Amino acid sequence: MASLPAHLASAPSDLPPNACPLPRSGQLAGLLTSIRDKNTNRGDFIFYSDRIIRLLVEEGLNHLPVVEKSLDYKGVGFEGKICGVSIMRAGESMEAGLRECCRAVRIGKILIQRDEETAQAKLFYAKLPDDIANRYCLLLDPMLATGGSAIKAIEVLIDHGVPQERIIFLNLVSCPEGLQAMYDVYPQVKIVTAWVDEKLNEQKYIVPGLGDFGDRYFTSN
Ligand code: PRP
Ligand code: URA
Repeated sequence: MASLPAHLASAPSDLPPNACPLPRSGQLAGLLTSIRDKNTNRGDFIFYSDRIIRLLVEEGLNHLPVVEKSLDYKGVGFEGKICGVSIMRAGESMEAGLRECCRAVRIGKILIQRDEETAQAKLFYAKLPDDIANRYCLLLDPMLATGGSAIKAIEVLIDHGVPQERIIFLNLVSCPEGLQAMYDVYPQVKIVTAWVDEKLNEQKYIVPGLGDFGDRYFTSN
């Protein structure tokens, strides 16, 4: 396999045990390079983000338990039912990728917004499938910065009866601070992340990051 430049070759080594970064390949590094580029227009940003999202969904499904299933052939099938839950707005960008893999999947929504000045996450609204307590939840948000938004979303899921071991968080770009904050509160929630960046800056944005994902995917030029 082609080798990557040293600074991209591996994820930080001291990540919490519930963090599951995708294997670093030239393809993945190239896709991330495209969406980090400020000159990438919205059409291309959507295209390359969607390709990473598809890789994440496929990997997230690898973390679901299976049980033996015998028809004519002794195989396996997923043990339980799933649902998706997107953290609005940016998380909605990941719903189509989930539907491509799980056609009729039920999808809940949680509207959480990060205050632009303080970076504190505020919960506005949640609408979830009635039987969510009996499902595995794939929680969707492309950005994990301080962890405030994802932690609030998990609080909502737990209030609705979903145990943390049944939540898998799918995420494009994370950072060590956010991963640690999540592990400190919810160590059983698995985090499948495409790329762990270096750190947060003073404004609590991810470095190198890609700016505001929601703006770039939904409203930029
Ligand atoms: C972004 C992002 C996450 C959150 C991450 O959303 O999509 O939800 O910030 O930051 P945190 O880990 O520090 O909480 P934002 O609230 O900006 O809203 P948006 O989805 O409408 O862009
Ligand atoms: N939200 C984003 O979209 N990007 C960041 O770097 C932090 C929060």
